[in-house]
Amino acid sequence: MSETELAAWWQRGVIYQIYPRSFADANGDGVGDLRGVIEHLDYLNDGTDRSLGVAAIWLSPFYRSPMADFGYDISDYTDVDPLFGTMEDFDRLIGEAQRRGIRVIVDWVPNHTSDQHPWFTESASSRESAKRDWYVWRDPAPDGGPPNNWQSAFAAVGSAWTFHEATGQYYLHSFMPQQPDLNWDNPEVEAAMHEVLRFWLNRGVDGFRIDAIYRLAKDPELRDNELGIRHDEDWPTIHQRLRKIRAVIDEYENRVIVGEVYLLDLRRLVEYINTGDELHLAHNFVFFHLPWQAAAFRASVQEFTELAKQSAWPAWFLENHDHSRVATRYAAAPESGQRRARTAAMLICTLRGTPFMYYGEELGLPDAHIPPDRVVDVDGRDPERSPMPWRRPSLDGPGAGFTTAEPWLPVITGAESLCVESQQQDPRSTLAFVRKLTHLRSREPTLQSGTLRLFDAAADVFCYERELDRRFLIALNFSSHRVPLALGGDAPSSAFLELSTHPGREHGAVDLQDLVLEPDEGLILRLSKAGAARS
Ligand code: GLC
Repeated sequence: MSETELAAWWQRGVIYQIYPRSFADANGDGVGDLRGVIEHLDYLNDGTDRSLGVAAIWLSPFYRSPMADFGYDISDYTDVDPLFGTMEDFDRLIGEAQRRGIRVIVDWVPNHTSDQHPWFTESASSRESAKRDWYVWRDPAPDGGPPNNWQSAFAAVGSAWTFHEATGQYYLHSFMPQQPDLNWDNPEVEAAMHEVLRFWLNRGVDGFRIDAIYRLAKDPELRDNELGIRHDEDWPTIHQRLRKIRAVIDEYENRVIVGEVYLLDLRRLVEYINTGDELHLAHNFVFFHLPWQAAAFRASVQEFTELAKQSAWPAWFLENHDHSRVATRYAAAPESGQRRARTAAMLICTLRGTPFMYYGEELGLPDAHIPPDRVVDVDGRDPERSPMPWRRPSLDGPGAGFTTAEPWLPVITGAESLCVESQQQDPRSTLAFVRKLTHLRSREPTLQSGTLRLFDAAADVFCYERELDRRFLIALNFSSHRVPLALGGDAPSSAFLELSTHPGREHGAVDLQDLVLEPDEGLILRLSKAGAARS
C-alpha cells in the first residue's frame, strides 16, 4: 500500500478474537453463547472512547459440533450449534455488530471435519462409498501399523492415523482422531468447502480466519517426514489452493482472509501474503513465540520487514486460544505480568500492521489455574480459555458475571480486581490504558499506516518511529529495571508524551536526552515534524 492510499478497514483497527464458549453466557448453562456476545458489543465498540473501539471481532467456531475440540471439530459447517444459539441469533449478531461499525470475521476450518460430519460417516461406510476419497484413507503398512510416520499436532494423540476396523484402512487426522482430514486433492472437496465460504459471505460476514491453512496441502505420495523436511504440511500446492480461496472471497467486496500459518520460518510465512492474491493477513507465530527481549523483537520485526513486500500487510498478535497468556508467560515476577501485558498491547498496536487482541488481553488476564479434575482439553489449553470475568465474584457470585451457573472452566483467581467492572472504575487499570491506546491508534492515521523505522536505543529498549502526517516514537522497556532511553544517532531532543503504560507518568513535553523508562514501561511520544530524526 502506498502511503497516500487509504488503508482498508482490516488494516486500520484492532481485530478482537472472541472464543464464544468463554466470553459471556446469556442462557445460564455455564457455556458462553452468541447472545452473550451480542449483550457485550457495546463494551467492544459503542462509538465512544469509553469502549474498546475495536474494528472487528473474530469468532472462533460456533458451528454444530460434538465438541471433541470445542468446536474445531465441525459436523455441520452451515448451522449454529444449539449450545451457542440459533441462526437467528447469528443474524442478529451481524446486524447489531454492523450497527456499531464492528465487522465480523468467522472461523473457517477447511482441513478437517468432525468424525460425526455426514461426509465422514458416508466416507467411512464402505471402501466403495462415493465419498470415500473425500478423506485420506490408506492401507496399513506391511506390519499392520500406520501408513507413514506422520504425527498429530497434539502430542497426547501420537500418530496422525487411526485404524478403522469396519473397512480395514487407516484415516488421516492432523489433530484428534475425531477430526479426520479432508482430502483437498479431491476437487469435489474443494468445491464443497468453497460453498461454505459463500454461505457465510451471503449471510454478511466480513471475512474468515482460516484454521490450520498450512495443513491444506500435503505430499500426495504421503512420504514419511524426515529431519527438517515435512511432508504433512505447507506443500507447494498450497499456493494454488489459496489463490482459488481468495478468488471466492474476491467475488464479494471488502472482505478479508487471515490465515493461521503456523510455520516457524518467516521466509515460508511471507509466501502466503507476498503475491497479493493469497491471504490478506497471516498470523505470525515466529513473532508470537519470541522471548521477552527487546533485541529478539527488534530482529524479528526487521527480518519480517525485509522479507515481506511493501504491499504485504503485517499482522501482530501475542495471545490466542491455543497458548499461555502474555501476563503469565512473560511475567518475570508476579507484579511484572500486568505491566508487561500493557507493554505487549502497546507493541502490537503501534507496529505497522493489524493488531489482533484475544478476549481478556485488554484486562491483562493471566492463565487460570485448572485443577486436575477440571481439565477438559487434550492439549493443555484450558488455562487460556478461562471465562471472561465481567463482574466481581464477591457481589455477583463465582461465575464473575460470565454465567449464573457453574462455568465450564474455572474463573481466574484474581477476578475480583481484574474483572471488567473493577478495572472500569480504576483510571490506572490495564483496561483504562488499553482503551486510551486503541483510541489513540484510531485517531492517528500515522499509527495505522505510517512507515516504520527502527531506532537505536538502550539494549533493553525496543524503539521505532512511525511517520505519515505525524511522527511518533515508540519506546518499550523489555526489562524490569529502570533504563535510560539512550537514543542513538542524531535523535531529536524533545517530544510530547502521548501515552505511557505506567499509570504514574505525567503527559506533556519531555526531554528525550534525560528520559528514563520505568520497569517494563512502554511510551508513545510525538515528535515534531520538522528536523526528522535519523537512526
Ligand atoms: C487450530 C486451532 C486450534 C485447533 C486446531 C484444530 O490450530 O487454533 O484451536 O485445535 O486448529 O482445528
